[in-house]
Amino acid sequence: MATTVLTGIQWGDEGKGKIIDVLTEKADVIVRFQGGANAGHTVEIGDERFILHLIPSGILRAGKLCIIGNGVVVDPLGLVAEIQALEERGLELRSRLQISNRAHLVFSYHRAADTWRETSAATPAIGTTRRGIGPAYADKANRIGIRAGDLRHPARLEERFRRQVEAYNQKFEVQGLELLEADREWRELREAAELLAPMVTDTVLTVNRAVRAGKELLFEGAQGLWLDIDYGTYPFVTSSNTSVGGACTGGGLGPKQVDWIYGVVKAYTTRVGEGPFPTELTDDQGEHLRRVGKEYGATTGRPRRCGWFDAVGCRYAVMLNSVDRLAVTKLDVLDDLAEIKICTAYRLDGELLSEMPADTEDILRAEPVYEDMPGWQHPTSQARSWDDLPANAQSYLERIVELLEVKIGLVSTGPHRCETFFR
Ligand code: IMP
Repeated sequence: MATTVLTGIQWGDEGKGKIIDVLTEKADVIVRFQGGANAGHTVEIGDERFILHLIPSGILRAGKLCIIGNGVVVDPLGLVAEIQALEERGLELRSRLQISNRAHLVFSYHRAADTWRETSAATPAIGTTRRGIGPAYADKANRIGIRAGDLRHPARLEERFRRQVEAYNQKFEVQGLELLEADREWRELREAAELLAPMVTDTVLTVNRAVRAGKELLFEGAQGLWLDIDYGTYPFVTSSNTSVGGACTGGGLGPKQVDWIYGVVKAYTTRVGEGPFPTELTDDQGEHLRRVGKEYGATTGRPRRCGWFDAVGCRYAVMLNSVDRLAVTKLDVLDDLAEIKICTAYRLDGELLSEMPADTEDILRAEPVYEDMPGWQHPTSQARSWDDLPANAQSYLERIVELLEVKIGLVSTGPHRCETFFR
């Protein structure tokens, strides 16, 4: 398939990093299209473990061109640190990394504003990653953002940056926050700008030339559908469109160029941060999933909330994203369980709901209606094909497929490349 979009269909952390890594073997160009350093894509190759926040995971395969699209918010200092850390591990990447000149930049004042918003009594906490994502997108929408294209013009960059530091300092003074030292901040930014400027370009042209040349493109989403600013559990969402449409608005792709869509889904559910979670398990079973699934945030280290598979929310995500195939991850985490539950509907005020409500208050009050499935109590990480899976694991996946009305394309039963098979 020439152009594939890969998107998470839960609350993020579905294991996209690993699936992207598997799919990049066949891709020529890999594009990140939304989010920023709030994401943490983990890839394990042999004994090595990589966590990427801004750079597409495709960078780990030699010769692949990687693009940070216009819909991403880029922390220049964080990106420099990520580039240097990969270079220290022997990766050559500057010649194959491009940053969209339209991408907006994230600065320390965005991070400070994010933290203030999370801790102030004036605004309810979202449980953000405090990476400045919301404030950076707010500046973009407010038309006062600074874009990566400005990194190529130091005088213009300095003027815009100092003006913003001053404006934020005025707000911080009122809020009783520590003020930013403009000179020091500028010195750090200038150094980062020098390093990044050669990689800044019009990536819309790169993407479309590659499409026209018949190259294989892979668009990698960050977070997941239930965190989408429009379709997610608002206000407990991130500030970008995590749905497939984001690949067009944030990746420079025309809608008719999307050939194939993978929805990545964990075999159970996790969430980091605040907000509704109808199938959450706050008991020993939730703890079991957290421990076996190593459910701690790749970016913040926070323990993830864990629960059963929610077919109501996933069906909604499959519909909205026109998913062609599911990539089911972390099936092995369920290996020990005697019984597994799938949420097939919500009960709200005595009524059964088969669709995800738009009102977050309703989702908060909704009770899950479960169907019990027998566990398989057999290791699955050695499985290399569908037929290798225990019969009860096949039945569990078949039931998910039936409820979501979509086929399975890929199953992952462990963190390593080899622990994956296509169906
Ligand atoms: P923000 O994106 O940092 O503003 O955080 C908003 C919400 O999205 C919070 O609940 C975060 O925990 C969640 N979030 C952001 N990025 C990720 C991610 O990569 N994985 C899982 N949750 C995320």
